[in-house]
Amino acid sequence: METYKAALIGCSRMGAFIDNEVPEERGAYSHAAGYEACDRTRMIACSDLRTDVMEQVGLRYDVPKDKQYTDYKEMIASEKPAIVSVATQPEHRADIVIHAAENGAKAIYAEKAFAASMEEADAMVDAVERNGVHLNLGTNRRWDPGFDTMKDVIDSGRLGGLKTLILHSTSSLFNGASHGFDLLLRLNSDRPVAWVQGHLPDGDDLIDGERLTEDPVGHGMIQFEDGVTAYALNSGRGMEIEAVCENGAVTGLGNGDEWQIREPGAKDHRDRDILVQGEFPDYEYRPSTLCLIEDLVHSIDTGQPPRCGVRLARRNNELIFAFIESHIRGGARVELPLEPRKLRLNRDREPRQPRYQR
Ligand SMILES: NC(=O)c1ccc[n+]([C@@H]2O[C@H](COP(=O)([O-])OP(=O)(O)OC[C@H]3O[C@@H](n4cnc5c(N)ncnc54)[C@H](O)[C@@H]3O)[C@@H](O)[C@H]2O)c1
Repeated sequence: METYKAALIGCSRMGAFIDNEVPEERGAYSHAAGYEACDRTRMIACSDLRTDVMEQVGLRYDVPKDKQYTDYKEMIASEKPAIVSVATQPEHRADIVIHAAENGAKAIYAEKAFAASMEEADAMVDAVERNGVHLNLGTNRRWDPGFDTMKDVIDSGRLGGLKTLILHSTSSLFNGASHGFDLLLRLNSDRPVAWVQGHLPDGDDLIDGERLTEDPVGHGMIQFEDGVTAYALNSGRGMEIEAVCENGAVTGLGNGDEWQIREPGAKDHRDRDILVQGEFPDYEYRPSTLCLIEDLVHSIDTGQPPRCGVRLARRNNELIFAFIESHIRGGARVELPLEPRKLRLNRDREPRQPRYQR
């Protein structure tokens, strides 16, 4: 079996060092750790504007000095990687993804949020599709076996049809809600969204003409065309999500560390169901980043589409901009597909300092 060459652009936290921040038992989480854990990939080169950060990647992941590039275009031309990781901030995503797609990458692992504007998202879709590239967005829970099992419970019909999804932590739209929106879409089998309604508590201060000066916190509602309603809250309960079905509910607690099922167990005096604690199926934990990379490897091997793909990545971005649009229109219902205005996230921020030790 061929081992695919991978190259990393953006060598900071999610690129290489976030493993020193997340619980050790979660296993490989950064892109670099994912390529190391996958026996079908080898990270052969890296690129960052910060040479000191790259140097640390070189030490930790055995990337020699002559394979550390400050110019990602030069790296792609010289190293011809099959898989390109784009772990920069969203403001620096579109140009890189488009260049990688147009210069030989077979697969792209692009961090979330997909793009800083809808215009850039559209250009990325165009480049990726025109060049037949497989793309997965780094919304990790789409590849997390625990959330796979939660979806299996919903799809099995054991609790009746899905009615409502409640996400307790939406957080800021680009950084946090990109994860949550993806999970809401996935748990409802990526069905089309009819409309959204959103509110951004600090939004008025952050929208400056066509510029979004910060990543705004937002919450609201997503109405799917099939009648399922999703509530994207910031309730204070953290990253917890509940799927309420006709005859019960399944809940992921503590960011997928604990699972609960409530299902009919007895009848009350009027013959109505009394819900009791049910058994959540056993599953084997595997790191989601590894599963995401294996999914791209499978797509390169077989030509089959990956689990996310560029269209769903764009849909994720569309939800972010639809929430913003709803806020701008005073909380109005915004129908999808969104007719986007020229708005772009453009923060004035320095990259963060990665943690080199746990
Ligand atoms: N999937 C997850 O759970 C998860 C977790 C953390 C961060 N993220 C996402 O990963 C992305 C990166 O986050 P971070 O905290 O590591 O960011 P960061 O700001 O710390 O680092 C970004 C890096 O990109 C580099 N960079 C910028 N432009 C570049 C260019 N043209 N060529 C090469 N390198 C370039 C910067 O120098 C910097 O080192 C963000 O989009 C973030 O939302 C995802």
